[in-house]
Amino acid sequence: MAVYLITGASSGIGLEMTRLAVARGHVVYALARRIDILRDEAARLGQLMRPIECDVTDRARVHEVCATLPELPDVVLLNAGLGAFGDKNKFNRDAYERIFAVNYFGALNFIGEFYERFRERGRGVFVGVSSLAGERALPGWPAYCASKAALTTTLEGMAISYRKTGIRYVTVRPSFIDTPMTAGQQQGMFLIWDAKRAARYIMDGIEAGKIDIAFPLVTRFLVWLARMIPIRLYRAVMR
Ligand SMILES: NC(=O)c1ccc[n+]([C@@H]2O[C@H](COP(=O)([O-])OP(=O)(O)OC[C@H]3O[C@@H](n4cnc5c(N)ncnc54)[C@H](OP(=O)(O)O)[C@@H]3O)[C@@H](O)[C@H]2O)c1
Repeated sequence: MAVYLITGASSGIGLEMTRLAVARGHVVYALARRIDILRDEAARLGQLMRPIECDVTDRARVHEVCATLPELPDVVLLNAGLGAFGDKNKFNRDAYERIFAVNYFGALNFIGEFYERFRERGRGVFVGVSSLAGERALPGWPAYCASKAALTTTLEGMAISYRKTGIRYVTVRPSFIDTPMTAGQQQGMFLIWDAKRAARYIMDGIEAGKIDIAFPLVTRFLVWLARMIPIRLYRAVMR
């Protein structure tokens, strides 16, 4: 039995991760803003699921939640996220700030709360739900892609900078998943997985001790290829 803290547990991947973790006998502190959804789910799943209302952008609230948690989690799943499929020709600076506040600083808020405590214990896992979209920009989503690139790079940087702490940093890089985030936006998306399948793949990877969980394999390969081609060619193809 492990203790999980999962952000963004009210929907999509986070909700399926919560259900799966509970089904595997783990305790889950399930966080989101929509507490009613979490409470309804907890009524179905039972005592292993512990719903907590928390906006990940609210540092004071994040601190309060983490400081008063009855036990130190084994795994902190940084999953809360905001999608952005905007107008390709409109620059909106505030949208960047909003997206980074959730996708990037929202994750960092929890790392800030648990890093020292994990280090003192000599053990702990941070799992950042990033995206293959962080590897190369996609048309229409520059802010989202940038936030995921930042998250991926930060986890990688922490892993190689802060060593011998016993902390494991795991990067999850899904491609397209069928969740409320992508609902109505799936034109042009391919090899779409459902959230249950994604959750199973992610949790199997965490339990197997992986540090990079990227899927599906075909898309992972295409993204790798996209990174290999010259930037001029990439821009010409994607335009
Ligand atoms: N769907 C995809 O194709 C895809 C692909 C790659 C990566 N991802 C990543 O996977 C993660 C989960 O996405 P999803 O597709 O499952 O999306 P989703 O169904 O829209 O779920 C997003 C979750 O994030 C929570 N959230 C958003 N803003 C929050 C805030 N300020 N404070 C606390 N919680 C907040 C939402 O809860 P409340 O609204 O209740 O707070 C919700 O539970 C995200 O990081 C996303 O970027 C998704």
